[in-house]
Amino acid sequence: MAIATRSAAWHALLPSLVPAKPRIFFLRSRPGRFLSHAHGLRPCGAASSLPPGEYLPPLFSVAPMMDWTDNHYRTLARLISRHAWLYTEMVVAETIVHQKDKLDRFLAFPAEQHPIVLQIGGSNLDNLAKATELASGYAYDEINLNCGCPSGKVAGHGCFGARLMYDPEFVGDAMSAIAANCDVPVSVKCRIGVDDRDSYEELCTFVDKVVSKSPTRHFIIHARKALLSGLSPAENRKVPPLKYEYYYALLRDFPEVHFTLNGGLTTIEQVSASIRQGAHQVMVGRAAYNNPWNMLGHVDSEIYGMPTRCSSRRQV
Ligand SMILES: Cc1cc2nc3c(=O)[nH]c(=O)nc-3n(C[C@H](O)[C@H](O)[C@H](O)COP(=O)(O)O)c2cc1C
Repeated sequence: MAIATRSAAWHALLPSLVPAKPRIFFLRSRPGRFLSHAHGLRPCGAASSLPPGEYLPPLFSVAPMMDWTDNHYRTLARLISRHAWLYTEMVVAETIVHQKDKLDRFLAFPAEQHPIVLQIGGSNLDNLAKATELASGYAYDEINLNCGCPSGKVAGHGCFGARLMYDPEFVGDAMSAIAANCDVPVSVKCRIGVDDRDSYEELCTFVDKVVSKSPTRHFIIHARKALLSGLSPAENRKVPPLKYEYYYALLRDFPEVHFTLNGGLTTIEQVSASIRQGAHQVMVGRAAYNNPWNMLGHVDSEIYGMPTRCSSRRQV
């Protein structure tokens, strides 16, 4: 049975966001109360054409994956699912700013790939702003900032990716600069914590700061923390334990913000179950790459309640 039904109340939440008040956060060991937001079908065209306040983050999306979610993969993914939202690989802001004459190489995509989100990375406000402005011409449907990559090059040398979770104030400023330079929604993809900054309260402070300093109302939560030394990026995607309870607690504590659940979902049944349990949106990475047909072949019917695009792998 399809998950999608429409909720006007849910749409109405975004514009009515009130400034963050000091809060006390409690983490239940299990998600005690699941919210029962219904999920609307998102129009499949560019979100930029939606009236303000009508924006809903993607119900189902394919995660940004460096070297994997390139144009070729995204073309294949779109052949299989019309409705799944697709994320680009992370593009570093400096790459965009310093290669102005080769922008197509990094930013161009075929129109059929809508709805599509550009993920950028960086820790320099000016460059993030300029990169967003330069990317605006490409009509992405949302701009996302990477606050979850633990790789040495990114979070070490580069001081961005997951390292940014150490500085919520900066992320708030960065999101404000990004939003000021585009006319589409903006979002943050982050971990539930980093190194020993891994308490639920610290995660809430991060969300609180970013929401109060910028128009960001959508966070993608990779539900495990990142360790910035001692683990490879691949280990950082499996060694730190998944803590879905942090995700569900965020739904309870920030009812005015959209949260996408990411991490460890490997089947369409798990995706459907997460949404039934109250997840606002779900993002799948490796499973959508390793077996696109098994995952994406069911998204349009099972998640969006729409006809499947292709009836068989052979047709794709
Ligand atoms: C090869 C690979 C590259 C990745 N590159 C990125 C990236 O560029 N930006 C990002 O935010 N996450 C990146 N990730 C993390 C995924 O987006 C996702 O958060 C992670 O794989 C957990 O989701 P999953 O368990 O469904 O795979 C990458 C993951 C993989 C496997």
